[in-house]
Amino acid sequence: MRLRWMPYPIRLTAMRRFICSVIWARDYKAGFLRLVQESRSKTDLPVIASINCVADKGDWIEYATAMADAGASALELNIFIQPTDIHAQARELELNYAEIVGRVAGAVKIPRFGETAHAPDQCLRLVERFARLRGPGVVFFNRFFEPDVDVERMTFVESSPYSEPTELRNVLRMVAICSAVLPQLDLSVSTGVHDGEAAVKALLCGAEAVQVCTAIHQKGFEVIAEMNEYIDRWSERQGFGSLDEFRGRLNFKNDTSAMFQRVQYMKYFPSEAK
Ligand SMILES: Cc1cc2nc3c(=O)[nH]c(=O)nc-3n(C[C@H](O)[C@H](O)[C@H](O)COP(=O)(O)O)c2cc1C
Repeated sequence: MRLRWMPYPIRLTAMRRFICSVIWARDYKAGFLRLVQESRSKTDLPVIASINCVADKGDWIEYATAMADAGASALELNIFIQPTDIHAQARELELNYAEIVGRVAGAVKIPRFGETAHAPDQCLRLVERFARLRGPGVVFFNRFFEPDVDVERMTFVESSPYSEPTELRNVLRMVAICSAVLPQLDLSVSTGVHDGEAAVKALLCGAEAVQVCTAIHQKGFEVIAEMNEYIDRWSERQGFGSLDEFRGRLNFKNDTSAMFQRVQYMKYFPSEAK
């Protein structure tokens, strides 16, 4: 922060903002650590803490360690740095991500799950790098915060944070491919899981777990029970006695359908669609 050349009132405002943001960040982190501690003391469920990691700032490593000390059973490392430099190479970004995971692996011994961004061309390589760093699993995908434009005020504004159920489709494709080519990793599906049917689709494609955020915000925690009931009813109807009997049934290895690789609309006529 450069304060020296600012007129006094601006300097005061900038300084106050800086102090407030430091206090806010400290309180925010302390609140999360308390939440992890309380969740662990009140439930037998494993608690997975999620951390947004940024390569060139150091304090999230301490935060990751504090999360582990607070009792987190595992960490989800949410990694994405928006490239804005036209000279930045894809390989540099990949190395950056690998460095982040490597630094956490050096500091924290509990399992670490990487949450990757939806970059279809890089995704497999990133996930493979993560597997080499002995991360036990990957979360597909890190859904970004999306800004929108207010045309009246001609400014960027926050958009709704909620996902749409249709956002699941591209996640399914990558899970189906990854669960076949990197079977050593546990895959968790996040983004677009709004109901039990979506959860079954994710399992069929090879997911070990699904994560639910928007649906809980919109429908309440009961949605989890409804999803479990749907999975039970569906499994019974299909004659499956356990999740393992159908998990991955539609993955890239088991179903070589050209649908996995199809990304072009070529020769798609809605009137002929089945
Ligand atoms: C209200 C709200 C707040 C969120 N806050 C965060 C956050 O602080 N950090 C983060 O990595 N993701 C955050 N997310 C993204 C979710 O973790 C998740 O990746 C995304 O919502 C996709 O899952 P869904 O389709 O089940 O909503 C937030 C999402 C919502 C709806």
